[in-house]
Amino acid sequence: MAAMCFFDSSKNISLSFLSLGTGLSPPYHCVRLPFCMKYKSIKASQITMTQLMLPSYSNFSGKIHGGYVLNLMDQIAFACASKHSGYYCVTASVNKVDFLNPIEVGELVTLKASINFTGRTSMVVGLRVESENIQTGVVKHCNSSYFTMVAKDKDGQSVPVPGIILNSAESIRRFARSMERQQHAQSRDQLFNSADFNHQAYLDKLVGQNAKVSLPEAGDRKA
Ligand SMILES: CC(C)(COP(=O)(O)OP(=O)(O)OC[C@H]1O[C@@H](n2cnc3c(N)ncnc32)[C@H](O)[C@@H]1OP(=O)(O)O)[C@@H](O)C(=O)NCCC(=O)NCCS
Repeated sequence: MAAMCFFDSSKNISLSFLSLGTGLSPPYHCVRLPFCMKYKSIKASQITMTQLMLPSYSNFSGKIHGGYVLNLMDQIAFACASKHSGYYCVTASVNKVDFLNPIEVGELVTLKASINFTGRTSMVVGLRVESENIQTGVVKHCNSSYFTMVAKDKDGQSVPVPGIILNSAESIRRFARSMERQQHAQSRDQLFNSADFNHQAYLDKLVGQNAKVSLPEAGDRKA
């Protein structure tokens, strides 16, 4: 069977339906594989890293420092994005870091990283962190997070990155979620832009919150 793939030229993605049988129809153009070399498989840059949690990584209550785990997450996000792009990458933003379960000294922590989304010069790396108790074998989900990484050339300029090949419903779901998250972030930034924000419009919504509004009287304000 001739290897075929489809791409939407307005987005940095390629959809491959060889194994899906989803039968999507135009607007996608149909081209032969060599033309798709600007797209890379997600699998090619997936990374897994496992580390034993030593006492020196712990805080005063004997659990592993959240900051230490963040450091590991940043490292694996860097490795994954750099592998995909072929350039060193910087962390542009980190979305949502929830520490779902504490990690104990002596546990094995496994981090998995995979490219969820590719923009022009940016990539969203999805991360999953699990810890395993060596004696009981119990595995805990500790964290899932999304790191936006930007590829840089040797002069520090942002450089275009290859797109990803979306070859499963799950990969399309992850890509779509990143797109939506970016759009929500943009509208939230606009809504709370400090130059345009009207605090008076929010005073009613603050009723019942654990905060006391104590604005200076008009005459008290500094000129
Ligand atoms: C993040 C950074 C690369 C953006 O650079 P910039 O000159 O503003 O570049 P642009 O506005 O062209 O944005 C480049 C890409 O980054 C994305 N980006 C920029 N800021 C972002 C943010 N806060 N969150 C998510 N993505 C962001 C843009 O959407 C764009 O993506 P695209 O090319 O795929 O469309 C730059 O601000 C930087 O180098 N920051 C410091 C990074 C760093 O040192 N990290 C480690 C901190 S210790």
